[in-house]
Parts: sequence; C-alpha cells; structure tokens
Amino acid sequence: MINFEYHSPTKVIFGKDTETKVGEEVKAWGGHKVMVVYGSGHVKKTGLLDRVHKSLTDAGLSYVDLGGVVPNPLLGLVKEGTRIAKAEGVDFLLAVGGGSVIDTAKGIGYSLANDFELEELLMKRKTTDKIAPIGSVLTIAAAGSETSNSMVITIEDGGLKRSYNHDCARPKFAIMNPELTYTLPAYQTASGASDIMMHTMERYFTNTPNVELVDRIAEGILVSVREAAKAAIKNSEDYEARATLMWAGSLSHNGLTGTGRVTDFATHKLEHELGGMFNVAHGAGLCAVWGSWARYVYKTNPARFAQFAVKVFDVPENFHDLEATALAGIEAWENWCHQIGMPISMAELGIDPTDAQVEDMAEKCMQVGGGSIGFFQPLYKDDVIKIYQNAR
Ligand code: NZQ
Ligand code: ZN
Repeated sequence: MINFEYHSPTKVIFGKDTETKVGEEVKAWGGHKVMVVYGSGHVKKTGLLDRVHKSLTDAGLSYVDLGGVVPNPLLGLVKEGTRIAKAEGVDFLLAVGGGSVIDTAKGIGYSLANDFELEELLMKRKTTDKIAPIGSVLTIAAAGSETSNSMVITIEDGGLKRSYNHDCARPKFAIMNPELTYTLPAYQTASGASDIMMHTMERYFTNTPNVELVDRIAEGILVSVREAAKAAIKNSEDYEARATLMWAGSLSHNGLTGTGRVTDFATHKLEHELGGMFNVAHGAGLCAVWGSWARYVYKTNPARFAQFAVKVFDVPENFHDLEATALAGIEAWENWCHQIGMPISMAELGIDPTDAQVEDMAEKCMQVGGGSIGFFQPLYKDDVIKIYQNAR
C-alpha cells in the first residue's frame, strides 16, 4: 500500500423522501439565495422540482432556476448560469439531477469564486482551491459527481471535453433517494451502472502490490453492481437494487477504491474524447472501448486481470494458463455489457470515426495526459490509435 490522503467530506442523506430535507440542509450550510440547476425537464415531469422549491421556500430561502443542462454539459450554459447567479446574488448552487447537472453547478461555483474564465481551469492553465458551496439532489446513479472532486465540461469550440479535479469541489451534501431513479430509461440505468463499475475498475487495475484490503472492497462493489444493474433493468422499481446502485455510485468515485494504490483512468480519457466528438452517453462510451483497452494491456499484469475474472465474474481459475483466465474475464465483462444492453464496440455504440477522427482523438488524449495516458500501462499516441481502431 502506498501513502495516500483520503478526503471525502460530503454529507450523505440517503433514503426515501429525503429530498424534503433539502431546504433545511442548504440553510444549515449557510445558503440564502439558491440557484437550482437542472436538466432537460424530467424533474418537472416527476414533480421533484416542485418538491425542492417547496422545501426551499419552507426553509425561508429564495431561489432562481437554471434549467437546460444537457448530457455532456456545455460551457455555454455554465457562463449563462454564472451571469444570472452574479446578477441575482446567488450564494449556493443546488444541483437536481445527475453528473451533467452537478458538474454544471460545479462550473458555476468555480466561476463565482474566481476572477477568471472556467476554460482556464479546464485547459489546465490555472488552478484554484476556491468554489462556491454546492449541494445535490441526485436522480441517477452513475457519475459519482455528488461526492467526487471532479468536474467535466465540454468546450463547444473544438468539442473539447475536459475536467478539473480539486477536493474543494466535493459537494457539501448529497441527497440520495433511490426512488427518484425509478423513472430512468433502461439505457440510462445501464450506462450509469457501467460508469460505476468503471470508476472502481479504473482503480482496480493497478500494479501496486499489497492492496488486498481495498481489492476486497472494490470486488464487493463490482459484484453488487453487476447484479443490481440487472435487477434494476428487469424491474425499474426494485428499491434495493436502486439503493445498491446509488450508494455504489458514490463509493466508486469518492476516492475510497483508489486509496493506497496507483490508479489508471486511461479508459476515461479514451471515452471523454468520444463524448466530446460524438456526444455519446458516458457509461456506454466506456463499455465500447474497455474491451479493446483490456486486450491491449492485459499482458502487463495478467495476474491482476485473472483476479478480476475470478473474483468479479466467477470465472474458473486456470492454474496452468493465467492469460486464458484473464481473457475469459474480459469476455465475461463484455457478456455482462450485452446482458444490460450496453455496447462493446464503437459500431455497437453507433459511431464510426474516420481515421482522421481517430488520429485527432488520440492527439487530444496526449494533450490531456501530457504525452501519455494511463498508469497500468502508459499509452502513447500510437497505442491509443490502435486501441480506438481495435474498438471499431
Ligand atoms: O436532463 P434530465 O432531464 O436531467 O435527463 C437526464 C439525462 O437525459 C436523464 N435522467 C437523469 N435522472 C433521471 C433521468 N431521466 C429520468 N429519470 C431520472 N431520474 O439521464 C440523462 C443523463 O443524465 P446525466 O446527468 O448526463 O448522467 P450522468 O450522471 O451519467 O452524468 C454524465 C456526465 O458526468 C460526467 C460524464 O462525462 C458526463 O458528462 N462525469 C462526471 C464525473 C464527475 N464529475 O466526477 C465523473 C465521471 O467519470 C464522468 O466523466
Ligand atoms: Zn465515469
């Protein structure tokens, strides 16, 4: 186990009807004028937005709404929201939705607390530890932004999907009522579950030795999500499955499963370029490239892939051929993706990048990673091109 710092301060308020507590919670964190950020409208249809408004009003708080966040959220709306928030004297950002909504709130929070444009952070030209306070009412188990230190925003000009990570961006609180996720379409449930799996897998595929404790935690999360995803897709109102997915979403991306080890995150970098260029659902994009990544790198440490196969997908261990066990685990992951309706190639994802687009995405990966991506096996531009090509 290597040295680490673990900072996960977000207060989690979990369970049925917990969204009614949102007003008192914002008040407790010192909010007076709240910007309620939401997406393309499901929160209006379900009545959740009305309930949130009522809770804020009951707590004596005033608010202004900012709707219209789209998946793979855009910098333009962050700027529009910042302009309104400044004009209205907003001092608390409340995200009601998923990762895209929470990340938009984080973007506005950074913009309010700093005197430079958000793209300076996204393009790594500046850093900051200042952000306006944020809370969330989560409606989809997926990105983990409700407790993560990360913000992912797409700069429209050039389709650059970029992130900025700092512990200051961990929200003050996250309200998680699994019932709010009953209305998710199966595709979004599956895409979210895949993202949750991937957040733990990006940390699980490591060459750091002596990490058994966190391996067992990670394997517990992965096996639980593997089953809960299938159950939630079969019956969208399966409370226990929804609860498992929701809590796992936070535990997978609050840093816990990365403690004491070097993490990878190459697959996320590969996907973010797909999201920026083709606007695909994030979790589905991860599924489309992971198998190609895995087959490209597994020989670096076949034992780790074999462990994944045996512990997460119950693949029988072949003591005479570790690589065969490793490959069977990759196949088992792909079968699981198909069982829940996720793609395992870019063709199945519905995109067909040209060679020039592949080259462009690989170049952008290099810019993001500073010359290489990933740590399990560092990948350079030619490697990335091959991984994209093998994922066709
Ligand atoms: O727009 P609305 O109406 O909210 O609809 C959303 C959206 O269409 C819908 N939805 C959400 N909850 C629902 C619902 N529909 C019906 N019933 C509900 N209860 O689902 C769609 C997807 O929403 P989105 O917020 O985009 O999903 P997700 O949470 O997967 O977030 C994806 C974004 O987060 C980024 C991704 O790259 C992507 O931009 N990520 C953020 C991370 C972070 N900040 O830590 C880490 C992740 O790795 C990821 O990169
Ligand atoms: Zn992710």
